[in-house]
Amino acid sequence: MNDNRKEIIRLLRQSEGNPVSGQEIGVKLGITRAMVWKYIKALRKDGYDIRSSPKIGYILDAYPDRVDPDELKKIMRTSLIGNDIRYYSELDSTNNTAREIAPKSPEGTVVIAETQNKGRGRMGSEWQSIPGGIWLSLILKPSIPLDNVSKITLVAGIAVTTALRNIGVDARIKWPNDVLVKGKKICGILTEVSAEVDKVDYIILGIGINANVKIADLKDEIRKNSTSIANEMGNPIDRTAFVASLLYELEQQYIKFKTQQFTNIVDEWINLSDTIGKEVKVTTPSKLIEGKAVGITEKGALVVLDRNNKKQEIIAGNCRYRY
Ligand code: BTN
Repeated sequence: MNDNRKEIIRLLRQSEGNPVSGQEIGVKLGITRAMVWKYIKALRKDGYDIRSSPKIGYILDAYPDRVDPDELKKIMRTSLIGNDIRYYSELDSTNNTAREIAPKSPEGTVVIAETQNKGRGRMGSEWQSIPGGIWLSLILKPSIPLDNVSKITLVAGIAVTTALRNIGVDARIKWPNDVLVKGKKICGILTEVSAEVDKVDYIILGIGINANVKIADLKDEIRKNSTSIANEMGNPIDRTAFVASLLYELEQQYIKFKTQQFTNIVDEWINLSDTIGKEVKVTTPSKLIEGKAVGITEKGALVVLDRNNKKQEIIAGNCRYRY
């Protein structure tokens, strides 16, 4: 979008539903009122619902539901995460693109797509990534040993849950990487890693949030266990603003992860957890553990008290609730 159009949108958004005259816009942009009108017509074609009333001015009633990377860069409050934002209307998977660019990209780079045609979930599952969602991947390069990577998934879960709670959505974390609202999934996190023997090169943190996704448009098999922000709030949200707040929470948690003892993060995770105290069935590649989820270890493993009253520590696995 050209700079004049962007600036007009910025001025109209800033006035929060109050009219802005063509004269005022023209003066600010150094263009004629006729030029302003030409840009308004072009913006309408792009899906911006701009009302115009003679003598009063222009009012922005609605804007297209997309993550606007220019607006995002303006409103972001981070100093590392999102310094480089790669925005696409469609990708196969943001995790794939992030992986391709990771070796030559700075830590904190974010890849966002409006839709994914091969979105990936955990354990090789498909992740339906239709318009209205937030599908993004973050490149992190912490100096940590490989067996500490699962901690990053917990850190991301806290950040997503906090961002959702900040807008009034009662989110909780299901170990290891789902965010639920009243038992229904609103977000999934897919952590992938490239590492040498014991040192991490980079981590790709893939986050998928059903923001303005229409639940009715989801496939039968996931629909009844899924929810979205719009569904919970009763109206669609401004996804650009939400991504800005999510990146902020991710940065806050990442700073904590790098500077504080992990026990602080564990405490915070437990406070937001949906899993602790529940009867669970956890499947790992080698075994099935049934029992009560009772805690998280220093390494980020789930502690399950099994039927023999023995504590089992599980670093990665698929968790289902038994009731
Ligand atoms: C899961 O719950 O199974 C994890 C889902 C992760 C989905 C996100 S969307 C952005 C990123 N790109 C992908 O292909 N997957 C992750």
